[in-house]
Amino acid sequence: MPKIIDVKELDFIYMPGSPYEQNALKNISFSLDEGEFLGIFGPNGSGKSTLVQLFNGLLSPGRGTVTVCDTDTADKKLRQQLWKKVSLVFQYPEQQIFQISVYDEVAYGPRNLGISETEVRQRVYLALEQVGLIPEETIGVTPISLSGGMRRRVAIAGMLALNPEILVMDEPMAGLDPIGRKLILDIINNRKEHKLTSVMTSHNLKEIIAIADKIAIMDSGCLVFFGAVSELLENNNILAKYRLELPDHIQLLSALAERGLKVNTNIRSLNEAALEILRLLA
Ligand SMILES: Nc1ncnc2c1ncn2[C@@H]1O[C@H](COP(=O)(O)OP(=O)(O)OP(=O)(O)O)[C@@H](O)[C@H]1O
Ligand SMILES: [Mg+2]
Repeated sequence: MPKIIDVKELDFIYMPGSPYEQNALKNISFSLDEGEFLGIFGPNGSGKSTLVQLFNGLLSPGRGTVTVCDTDTADKKLRQQLWKKVSLVFQYPEQQIFQISVYDEVAYGPRNLGISETEVRQRVYLALEQVGLIPEETIGVTPISLSGGMRRRVAIAGMLALNPEILVMDEPMAGLDPIGRKLILDIINNRKEHKLTSVMTSHNLKEIIAIADKIAIMDSGCLVFFGAVSELLENNNILAKYRLELPDHIQLLSALAERGLKVNTNIRSLNEAALEILRLLA
């Protein structure tokens, strides 16, 4: 399986050599396979946003290498083309919307790809549908008149319209209502079905554990855990140390196993857990 993101011994320092020097990432190494969904967790200031900005070449490694879609992000010329392959939805993207209509906002990226306006239009309509908006009713609206949650959907649609090989979203669920949060999970699930790679940073492990393939946990610029969800669920040290809250149904299965019941604890979704409990009761 080809590695779509390959990070080796990465350090990143903000304002190096100045009195404000900030060592934001320290000796980070991991790789992600194509089609996987990576969830990145960690407290405020642990380096999540810094790390994801290295994936599309917005930031460049201080030490080590970041190779994304076979592109060395330290190569200035190649890095400039990475935005076509890696779409990054910033933290609070709704604050960065600047076009006068929803159509123009979503069309901004595709237009820069140099494709025909007919194809741009098709992509805009499809992307708006993917974020749960009705294109005919939304394209003429001024983004500034929409609620924050709706503006975020428009910002995400703008990134989806680029048909990126990797979709990176920095805390896309923060402050959204349950419908908005489900929509984000649906987008990622849909990409998984099409074997497309996604990355998301989050504070809430509970919400993505059922669909994540790999989990990264950051602390003070260090990668303190990287691995499959099943490995994380077995790692009680990490779960306790970072107070990672698991969904109730996973906690229930673990509690049953601790009491000696022969229960499969390698289960993530609520449906699977319900079936496992029914099996126990049979
Ligand atoms: N532009 C910047 N200039 C200087 N230091 C920065 C800059 N951006 C981030 N930092 C510092 O780098 C470290 C990592 O910050 P980063 O924003 O990557 O963390 P985060 O995990 O995304 O935090 P949050 O959960 O609050 O979004 C912090 O100490 C932060 O203060
Ligand atoms: Mg952040």
